[in-house]
Amino acid sequence: MKILIVGSGGREHALVWKLAQSPKVIKIYCAPGNAGTDLLAENVPLKDNDLNGLLDFARNEAVDLTVVGPEIPLALGIVDLFREHGLKIFGPTAAAARLESSKVFAKQFMSRHQIPTAAFRICDSRVSMESATNNKAFPFVIKVDGLAAGKGALIIRNQQDLQQAAQAIWEERRFGEAGEKVVLEDFLFGEELSVFVITDGERYVILPPAQDHKRIGDNDTGPNTGGMGAYAPAPLGTAEVMQNIENKIIIPTLNGLSKEGIPYTGTLYCGLMIDGGEPSVVEFNARFGDPETQVVLPLIESDMSTLLLGAAAGRLNQSDLKLSRKTAVCVVMASAGYPDAYEKGKVISGLEDYTENSDTVVFQAGTTRTDMQFKTSGGRVLAVTALADDLRQAITKAYEQVAQISFAGAYYRRDIGQKGLMRQKFSPGDM
Ligand code: AMP
Ligand code: GLY
Repeated sequence: MKILIVGSGGREHALVWKLAQSPKVIKIYCAPGNAGTDLLAENVPLKDNDLNGLLDFARNEAVDLTVVGPEIPLALGIVDLFREHGLKIFGPTAAAARLESSKVFAKQFMSRHQIPTAAFRICDSRVSMESATNNKAFPFVIKVDGLAAGKGALIIRNQQDLQQAAQAIWEERRFGEAGEKVVLEDFLFGEELSVFVITDGERYVILPPAQDHKRIGDNDTGPNTGGMGAYAPAPLGTAEVMQNIENKIIIPTLNGLSKEGIPYTGTLYCGLMIDGGEPSVVEFNARFGDPETQVVLPLIESDMSTLLLGAAAGRLNQSDLKLSRKTAVCVVMASAGYPDAYEKGKVISGLEDYTENSDTVVFQAGTTRTDMQFKTSGGRVLAVTALADDLRQAITKAYEQVAQISFAGAYYRRDIGQKGLMRQKFSPGDM
C-alpha cells in the first residue's frame, strides 16, 4: 500500500512513524513534511491547502490511501474532492468537518441532539454581544465562529477583558471572516480530556484518553499554545467516565450527523471538560490532535494502515484495534519566545546520534535539515515521547531523553503528566 500523509507537524511525524511499522505499507509520502518525516517517508513539496496539487500527486503516484493531518484542507473539502475522483482518503467531508470549522454549527448541532456542552448564545454584532453580556457573571467565554489556529477562544474574566475582546473582534476585525459571528458561552469548570474516535460513519473505535497541556507555563499558567505535552491513557478517563463519554457524546454525535445526512468519517476529536465524572464538550475537532497523537499512536499495537483504510473505505473492523497496556508521555520542546515571536535556524544537537528504541521516540515538528544538521524552523520543535509500564516511569524516561537534546533557547514545561500523578495519588480507587 502507498500512503500520502498531508501536513508537517509532530502529529504527521507520528502518523508516518506508526504507518511505517506496517508490513502492508511499501511507500509513504508526506506533503510537505519536515526533517523528521523525511527520515521515514519521501517529503513532497506541496502545501496542505494545495488541493489540486495533492490530488494530481495522489493520482500520478497511484496512492492507495491519503491521511489528512490538519484542519484547513478538511475545511476546504479535500475529502470531497478525492472521493469525487475515486480516491481513498481518511478524514471527514467539508460538511462534517464543520463540527470544527464552525463553532456556531457545532453548538447548534449539540443543542439539536442534547449533547452536553456549555450553555450559549450566538451574536453577530457588537450590539448583540453587548446586550447578551450585559449583567452576565464573569468568567465566561467568547469564541469566534471560524478557524483561528487555536487563538479563537477568549476567556473573559472581567470588564477589561470584555472591552478588549469586543475591540479585537468588531473594531479591529482581527479574526476576519472567522469573527463575523461569535459564540458566547458559559465557563466550564473541571479538568480537560481529549478523546479520539476513529469511525467509518457507522462503526467506531475509541482510542485511549489523553490530556494535553495547553498553556505555555508550568501549572497551566501564561498564554495558550498549540499544546506543550501530553500523556495517555489519562487516569481522568476512568472506565465510568469513558462509558459516559461514549453514551452521552460519541453515540449521539455520530448518530446525529448520520441522521442529518452528513455521516462522519475519519477522526472525531472530542475536547471535553470532565466535572465530577460528567463530560461536556468544549470543542470538536475534525482530525487528530497535536501533541495527543504523539502519545496515543504509540499505544496502538495493531496495524494502523488497516484501521485507517477500514475507516476510509466504510469497513472499519473494531477487532482491528489492539492496545498496549503501557503509558506514554510526550514533552514538547519549543523555541524561546513561543507562542509569540521566536527565532528560527538554531542548530539542534542530540538528534544525529539519537537511535530510536522501542520505548522512546523523538517526533519532529518545526525542523529542517541541511547536510547532516537539524535546525529549528517552528515554534514547537520536537515532541519527545517515552513509553513505560506506568505514568511515573514514563515521565522520568521522557525527561531523560529531553536532557540529551539541546538547541539555543530550548524551552519545555517541567510538569507534564503531574496532574495525572496527583489524580492517581488521591483517587486510586478510580483506576
Ligand atoms: P477551543 O478553541 O474551543 O478549543 O478553546 C481553547 C481552550 O479554551 C480550551 O482548550 C479550554 O482550555 C478553554 N475553554 C474553551 N471553552 C471553555 C469553556 N466553556 N470553559 C472553560 N474553558 C474553556
Ligand atoms: N492539542 C490541541 C489540538 O490539536 O487542537
